[in-house]
Amino acid sequence: MHNAAFRALGLNWVYVPFPVRAERLGDAIRGFRAIGVRGVNVTVPHKRSAMEWVDLLGPEAEFIGAVNTLTFQSDGTVRGDNTDARGFLAALQEAEFPSVEGQQVVVLGAGGAARAVVAALAQAGAQPIVIANRTVEKAEQLAEELQARLGIKAMGIPLLEAAVQAVLHETVLLVNTTSAGMEGKPPLEFNPELLRPPLAVCDIIYTPPETELLRAAAARGCRTLNGVGMLVHQGAIAFELWTGIAPPVEIMREALLNALNP
Ligand code: ATR
Repeated sequence: MHNAAFRALGLNWVYVPFPVRAERLGDAIRGFRAIGVRGVNVTVPHKRSAMEWVDLLGPEAEFIGAVNTLTFQSDGTVRGDNTDARGFLAALQEAEFPSVEGQQVVVLGAGGAARAVVAALAQAGAQPIVIANRTVEKAEQLAEELQARLGIKAMGIPLLEAAVQAVLHETVLLVNTTSAGMEGKPPLEFNPELLRPPLAVCDIIYTPPETELLRAAAARGCRTLNGVGMLVHQGAIAFELWTGIAPPVEIMREALLNALNP
């Protein structure tokens, strides 16, 4: 999607993949900076460790504890951003999802992706934020961090039907950030009877484009959104950080969809 954007705008830039071993990350980042690379995306397994090589952190990265975008600035410093949070919010807005301000939301999962999503929801004014996770201790820990560091009312609960059912009736948005339901993995165990409008349901998974959770939600009349928008927008925000140019979002989305469904 980045190369499609560069081509569309006539920019003589290129986006290329580099496999980097964990123990060589520092060398790789110093090397990229030395040869005048403008920026990189970092992904598994480097999202947390890349923070060590950053001089300045973007607004959400500190809370999330991970970066996905590095920008080598003209003064020689390295800026680290996590564009997943802003990408998630941009996708919700683009889909004209109802505002979460002052509203209860439920996030399924408490891993790295959940951290980006709760940071975004906190920024959008959602409150309280309920985190439901298979390992309930991780949900409780993330809820405590939200409260202590961002001053957001939050609660961790087990990802069990009775517990989720007890909170869902007052909830405007349910977001799945677990990997359950991804292609090649078993679906999320979730009773579809719990899903009913006006609840809106978002799954940040983009392969498959419609998870069982989303299919069940749509069948019951809920508004639904998959992870394609978040993926496009996190990239578009990185594009803008690097180039300073407004990203051609539709061109990026088209390239991404072509790559996902060749
Ligand atoms: P990511 O960075 O993608 O969030 P992660 O940090 O490994 O990856 O987190 C994966 C999340 O998916 C966790 O919340 C995990 O629950 P646990 O903390 O209990 O491991 C959740 N998850 C993975 N498979 C799951 C399943 N089959 N059912 C429910 N939750 C699942």
